[in-house]
Amino acid sequence: MKTDDNPWWAWRQRWDQQQEVYLPYREQRFDVMLDVAAQSLPADAVVVDLCCGLGSLTERALPRLPTARLIAVDLDPVLLRLGRETIGDADGRVQWLQADLTAADWTTRLPVERVDAVLSTTALHYLPAEDLVRLYRQLHQLINPGGIVLNGDHMAYPARLPTFRALAETTGSRWYDQAMAAPGAENFGDWWRAVADQPGMAELMAEREQLFAWRARREASAEYLLQRAALEEAGFREVDTVWQHLDNRVLLARRGND
Ligand SMILES: C[S@@+](CC[C@H](N)C(=O)[O-])C[C@H]1O[C@@H](n2cnc3c(N)ncnc32)[C@H](O)[C@@H]1O
Repeated sequence: MKTDDNPWWAWRQRWDQQQEVYLPYREQRFDVMLDVAAQSLPADAVVVDLCCGLGSLTERALPRLPTARLIAVDLDPVLLRLGRETIGDADGRVQWLQADLTAADWTTRLPVERVDAVLSTTALHYLPAEDLVRLYRQLHQLINPGGIVLNGDHMAYPARLPTFRALAETTGSRWYDQAMAAPGAENFGDWWRAVADQPGMAELMAEREQLFAWRARREASAEYLLQRAALEEAGFREVDTVWQHLDNRVLLARRGND
């Protein structure tokens, strides 16, 4: 619940602001994803916010999918804490779960066997190809017939489209430079340094550092064609883009009714 005396809310606001430094139209992208979800899902849907961070998508989904249940999954103990301290369980509608998507058995940690939708923003491109392929196969098993995946993320253009790649790059850096020129603007690194300086954060920050140690060695930048092929290979019946700004897209994948 948002109240003036809950200091955690300011960190959420600053998170959203620093994400926008990298992401033109972030709010529009959430809006499109939730519009598609609202049209595609049953009223009592179970929806996973995968790599939820502090739950920016979950927060926006609560009013847009007013009777859905949300399971917010992330590995980061600091962001999960921020989610719990702000959104909390939203009258029993939200569950927060710490899980590592690169662990082959992560779905066994979910409190349900099947879900209607998996939504994710600005996260899955980090996964190396083999993890992404395995993840989409797992999601196909997890999602009910007729259910959906919606992934809003950077999905790089293939090397054979250098003009498109360059456009995405120059547009991104121009946007970043403009956003960072605003008074008080901060980027991802600034935000994390400020959080780490908060009293009482040292233990969670140390846990975070340990959990993400593999990142430096394995971080990827999954291309659009890989994302799409991996969803199709996993068995999703219909896969295509429902929103796009250069290499920033929302991919919708629908499971068949079988
Ligand atoms: C850029 S943030 C995006 C967070 C949120 N979805 C948003 O749009 O604000 C990427 C998120 O992916 C999470 N993440 C990265 N690797 C992960 C993994 N292996 N398992 C679970 N979460 C992971 C990070 O902890 C982080 O919260």
